[in-house]
Amino acid sequence: MSQVSETTRTIRVDLGDRSYDIAIGPDLLDQAGALIAERLGERHVVIITDSNVGPLYAERLEESLAKAGHTGRTIQIEAGEQSKSFIYLESLLDDLLSEGLERGTVLLALGGGVIGDLTGFTASIALRGIEFVQIPTTLLAQVDSSVGGKTAINSPHGKNLIGTFYQPRVVIADTSTLTTLPPRELGAGYAETVKYGLLGDAEFFEWLEQDGTGVLSGNAGIQTRAIVRACEMKAEIVNQDERETGRRALLNLGHTFAHALEAETGFGGTLLHGEAVAIGMVLAFDLSVTLGLCPAEDAARVRAHFEAVGLPTTLPSHPSDKWDAQTLIEHMSRDKKVQAGRTTFVLVRGIGDSFLTNEVGHADLVQLLDNMAATA
Ligand code: NAD
Ligand code: GLY
Repeated sequence: MSQVSETTRTIRVDLGDRSYDIAIGPDLLDQAGALIAERLGERHVVIITDSNVGPLYAERLEESLAKAGHTGRTIQIEAGEQSKSFIYLESLLDDLLSEGLERGTVLLALGGGVIGDLTGFTASIALRGIEFVQIPTTLLAQVDSSVGGKTAINSPHGKNLIGTFYQPRVVIADTSTLTTLPPRELGAGYAETVKYGLLGDAEFFEWLEQDGTGVLSGNAGIQTRAIVRACEMKAEIVNQDERETGRRALLNLGHTFAHALEAETGFGGTLLHGEAVAIGMVLAFDLSVTLGLCPAEDAARVRAHFEAVGLPTTLPSHPSDKWDAQTLIEHMSRDKKVQAGRTTFVLVRGIGDSFLTNEVGHADLVQLLDNMAATA
């Protein structure tokens, strides 16, 4: 019998024998033990969490797991992007192996995208692969990173360059955990939520223009509706293109610019990832307008909405120097999405109509970035 309450929505990611559910709703931490037992039976579960999320939610989760018959323990890691590194990976693997890790052990990621990416990567390589579960606690992780099986750590050569595609067994998004998320983190996750409207659902964007402030003010019903729509879209895209050979790359709208901005300002520094993505999406719309592909009023609507909700639409001051178009383009050329030396961009024909191209001219890019730098 299902333990899921009536307020919980379930979305299926359909990948054959790697299919799984995304459960979305309030107070799901208390049902997590049962939701896992229904799918995996009673197991030894190791919770991996960070130093902000652990003190808030680990005990409740441990109780939920014990009540459903699971055994286990919790490993707490320092919060922050630096944890997605070889050093933390090694120390986590060492901790797991020193306690006698078994093939049947399940890793449970309790936290934001950092914990989700590190735990997923660890699960994919420990004992050649053990099962893992995502319990995302940031809006960004609930609408994006916990779904779709991208796992990663960073390298000195760039972000997310070392990783695997490895799907979780279930994603449990407890919307109540968003009540403790710092407002700036909520805003960053909101940018990734808007992304779905901009890349493929104009009606969703229109709804966010009307009601999106409810996501940021903590309206639980509006938050759930936004997360559900984002996860439906992400699941549909991942179902078609799990390993990003084509359509999945649309999820990178704004990201090629964002990664360049983050590389210049320091990852996890001046700009949060979602904030950099907001600026990146403004740049993608501006570039599409310049190339005669997209109506100027659509780009204006995107900028106006981000301004209305307090997301950045222009470059912040450069941390050490001035912004330089050539340097940003060099960062873009190191992107994972470069093919045969050409950077792939997600551009738009309008709100809700995105496409991939590697035909963006160098001069157009320099002009776009110079214009943006002039307003910083
Ligand atoms: P994060 O995991 O660093 O979390 C942001 C901050 O919020 C941290 O300080 C964390 O401790 C804190 N926090 C988390 N949940 C909280 C809660 N409920 N209450 C209070 N504090 C809480 O960052 P993020 O924005 O969730 O994720 C960013 C990471 O995700 C990046 O490393 C990025 O590369 C990755 N990412 C991965 C994918 C993917 O598909 N795998 C997609 C997008 C982003
Ligand atoms: N966050 C982009 C993806 O999952 O493909």
